[in-house]
Amino acid sequence: MSRIAYVNARYLPMRDAMVHVEDRGYQFGDGVYEVCEVRGGRLIDERRHLERLQRSLGELRIRMPMSPAALGVILREVVARNRVGYGIVYLQITRGVARRDPAFPSPPVPPSVVVTARRLDRSRNEALAAKGIAVVSVPDNRWGRVDIKTTGLLPNVLARQAAIEQGARDAWFVDKGGAVTEGASANAWIITQSGAVVTRHADSAILRGITRTVLFDAIKAYGLSIEERAFTLQEAYAAREAFVTSASQIVLPVVRIDGRIIGDGKPGPVATALRREFHRFAEAG
Ligand code: PDD
Repeated sequence: MSRIAYVNARYLPMRDAMVHVEDRGYQFGDGVYEVCEVRGGRLIDERRHLERLQRSLGELRIRMPMSPAALGVILREVVARNRVGYGIVYLQITRGVARRDPAFPSPPVPPSVVVTARRLDRSRNEALAAKGIAVVSVPDNRWGRVDIKTTGLLPNVLARQAAIEQGARDAWFVDKGGAVTEGASANAWIITQSGAVVTRHADSAILRGITRTVLFDAIKAYGLSIEERAFTLQEAYAAREAFVTSASQIVLPVVRIDGRIIGDGKPGPVATALRREFHRFAEAG
């Protein structure tokens, strides 16, 4: 079965799914995106993802091309047409197509909208979570507004590639003060020796993950203590557990950071429980 993508009001086979060479997403990374988990064919936390999308668009002064409800219809249609039971749906909106000039097109042009969906291998993801992943630290050299989910991801691309070349799965960005900001495509968490669950406060130095937000509810429900604050790489090395969160991996245990073993080198009980229980706290639409 050929995959189907939505591109500017048309559902097209993947091989025909094209955007214009002067699309500002292509030229400047002048666009935003969202990734939603699909589970049992249903979108997880769609409302929150679309709210964050609107915020990202607003920060960049890109017009919301249609209502959240209309976008939701398209997301569902792409999921259905690709028969995705378990996987992800990807939505990208750019400032549109215009002759290349960094300033906003004047008069404004219609934003470009692309939606794709793809199946993920659930047993492979579960096997990965059961084993845990290795991460490496890299200097956080991103711009100052990574709270906006833009498609401009070059530092993330280079960080992820550096991780893979060092035999790790992902990278953790570290700021100039030695504190971990977040992963290259996930939020970073540790559990201290005293049992506190720690993740960086959400300012403009991290993306406020939807998984992160929902996980706070789970952590509170289980009576664990949360510290929303910066933590250093040294603290992470000494942590009892570590993990990352994102829509595509939910809670993924980290068992090695820069080659140092975290805890006993196996996924920790808290991360494992949070992964198992997450969907009791998420919205499925
Ligand atoms: N990544 N931080 C960064 C830099 C991210 O790219 C992501 C998501 C997150 C977690 O956000 P959420 O929980 O809302 O998925 C944090 C997506 C999945 C991606 O780029 O594929």
